[in-house]
Amino acid sequence: MELLALLFLSFCFLTLSGRTFAAESETPVARVTVREDDDVILPCSLDTNENIESMLFDWVKEVPRKEVFMYRNRSHYNNGLPGQDVEFKGRVSHYPEELKYGNASIRLKQTRLEDKGTYTCIFPEIKPSEKIFRIELVVEGRLKVRNVPGAAPHPSVTNLDQTNDWALLKCDVKGAYPKPTVEWWDSNNQTIPFEEPQVSKKGEHFYITLKTTVKKTGRYRCVATQKEIHHQIYKEINVHLNGAGPKPYVTILKENGLLECEVPGASPKPTVEWWDSDNKTLPSKTVQDEEQQGRFHVIVQTTVTEPGCYRCVATQMEKWHRISSEICVHREKTAQPPSGLPEWAAALIGGFIVVVFVVAVGVVLKIKGYSLKKDLQRMENGPSSELERNLTSEQP
Ligand SMILES: *[C@@H]1O[C@H](CO)[C@@H](O)[C@H](O)[C@H]1NC(C)=O
Repeated sequence: MELLALLFLSFCFLTLSGRTFAAESETPVARVTVREDDDVILPCSLDTNENIESMLFDWVKEVPRKEVFMYRNRSHYNNGLPGQDVEFKGRVSHYPEELKYGNASIRLKQTRLEDKGTYTCIFPEIKPSEKIFRIELVVEGRLKVRNVPGAAPHPSVTNLDQTNDWALLKCDVKGAYPKPTVEWWDSNNQTIPFEEPQVSKKGEHFYITLKTTVKKTGRYRCVATQKEIHHQIYKEINVHLNGAGPKPYVTILKENGLLECEVPGASPKPTVEWWDSDNKTLPSKTVQDEEQQGRFHVIVQTTVTEPGCYRCVATQMEKWHRISSEICVHREKTAQPPSGLPEWAAALIGGFIVVVFVVAVGVVLKIKGYSLKKDLQRMENGPSSELERNLTSEQP
């Protein structure tokens, strides 16, 4: 019974696969490749070379079925015959001079990505049975900008936002097909980290936006690559970061209230001031004001007498940029004159106390352990030695 079922199944399989092979071999598919926007000839020719001027042939695009070009005894879609799909209106022509030789090839103007697919050229009236030719059209996309007047066909890059320390860069690739890989590279052509790309699709075209934050002055490049068509294109952008550090560095130099503020590498030159908690400028001394490669390294000191919080404020007027760091001087610290115990002495004494304690504990444990051992020994040895004594005493 099972054998029968198996036989039946394999019979079905053979029949089905035989059918598929047959269908495929009936109409071999020729492949034609074209670059998007280029014109292409879809070939179709009777090998008998018979004159087809007064015959009927029809070009159809498959799935979904669309009327591409029909020719019937000298009338066709370009001279009044109705029925052509709007998609192909004005874009398809045939070769009247070639008809005499059985050549029904057509020319498709300015191919679009949407044109890709399978086309059939049918001669329904040919005896003994209709003749069918199948063409697979492959349209290779170009990387390009669409519907953006005046835009160049490469990525566009913009500096969205910038501070002294970083710049946020954006790259837009518009209307590309096939889908490109988009990356940000540094000037050494190394990929730098970037955000998750935003990808959208209109028709067959991809729109990709890629952002990155850079923290160094330099030249950056947005690169779009389409491996399939061996195409790579880029756009560069220069970034000038001329920053102060994220904030001025502030330190208490001396416990008696000498405060120091350091602004490393700022451009344009910042004004650096010490302010008290009422935003009043304190008298201060610039101890360093150096320029290196167009950046200013400034150190400003002030002496405060009162405990409280003080701010070092770095201002770049030209850039409307102001940044500050705060530091607080505590009463205990300022009240602690050098006459107090020096830190190293306190550390030494502290260390000494710890050592003494550890030694003491060790000694106590050792003594305890020793006496315990002694007790145990006495308990073990006690009776035996007494027995010994007894034994010896019993000996005459
Ligand atoms: C049919 O005509 C086209 C256009 O002139 C030509 O490119 C093609 O080679 C012709 N085909 C044959 C088989 O002659």
